[in-house]
Amino acid sequence: MMIQPKQYFIEKLMEQSFIKEDTRILEFGSGRSKNILPLLVRFPNLYYVGVEPNTSDAEMAAKLLKNFKNAKIFNQLAYNKIENCESFDICISFSVLEHVKQLERFLINSIKHVKQGGYIIHRYDLGHALYPSSLKEKFQVCIGNNFPRVLPENKFVRYLEERKVCEILENNGARIEKKMYHQMPNHKKFLKLFDADTDEEIDLAKKILEWECDISKVLYKIDQKQKELLFPSITIWAVKN
Ligand SMILES: C[S@@+](CC[C@H](N)C(=O)[O-])C[C@H]1O[C@@H](n2cnc3c(N)ncnc32)[C@H](O)[C@@H]1O
Repeated sequence: MMIQPKQYFIEKLMEQSFIKEDTRILEFGSGRSKNILPLLVRFPNLYYVGVEPNTSDAEMAAKLLKNFKNAKIFNQLAYNKIENCESFDICISFSVLEHVKQLERFLINSIKHVKQGGYIIHRYDLGHALYPSSLKEKFQVCIGNNFPRVLPENKFVRYLEERKVCEILENNGARIEKKMYHQMPNHKKFLKLFDADTDEEIDLAKKILEWECDISKVLYKIDQKQKELLFPSITIWAVKN
C-alpha cells in the first residue's frame, strides 16, 4: 500500500485527539473527499461537511459518503456562508489555497464557520510554483502570479506567500498557533515508489512524514526561500479568538 501523506496528517490529528468521534469538521475544496474517508470509516457518525465547486468531484464524493449519515457535500465555491452550517470545531483544507482566486474571502469564510477556540487548518502546496511539471503549469503559475484576473476560478494557481496567509488570518479574528512544513521532494518521490506491505514497512514510511512534522519546529532557523524549496508544502494552524 502507498502511504498517503494527507491521510497520515489526519491520522495524526486523531492520535493527538484534535479529532474525536464527536468533532465537527468542515473541509473547503474537498475534491472527492478521499482524504477524509478513512476517518469516516473509523468514526462513522462523525459530522463532516465538504465544500467542493467541481460538480463531478462533488458528485463522486457524495456517492462515496452516502452511507455516512452525518456527512454532507455542498457543490459550491467556499466564499459564502454554507447553508445551516456553523460552529465547526475544525475548518480544514488540503492543497486548495494555491488555487483560490479570492483568497481573503475564502480565509475569512473559513474563520466564520468555526466556533470560538476552534481550529482553522490550511495545508497548501507550492509545488506548482517551485517545481512545475510542464511548461503549461509554469505559464499558468506565471499568469496566476502576475495577471490573476485572467485565469478563471477553476484554472487558478499561483505561488502563495506564507506571510500573506498568516496576515489575513490574524487580521480577521484568528491567531496563528503553528506552522508545519512537508513534502521534501525526495520524500514525496520515495513514498510514491514505495509499496509498503508489512507493518514494519508501513511504520518506516510513516517515519518520514513524522520526521517532517517534528523538524518543522526548528525550521524557523532556515531562510524562508530555502525552506520552501526544501519543503514545498506548508500547513498553517490558526485558532479562532
Ligand atoms: C488540488 S485539488 C485538492 C482536492 C482535495 N482537497 C485533495 O487534497 O485531494 C484543489 C481543490 O480546490 C478546489 N477549489 C479551488 N478553488 C476553490 C474555492 N474558491 N472554494 C472551494 N474550493 C475550491 C478545486 O475545485 C479542487 O477540488
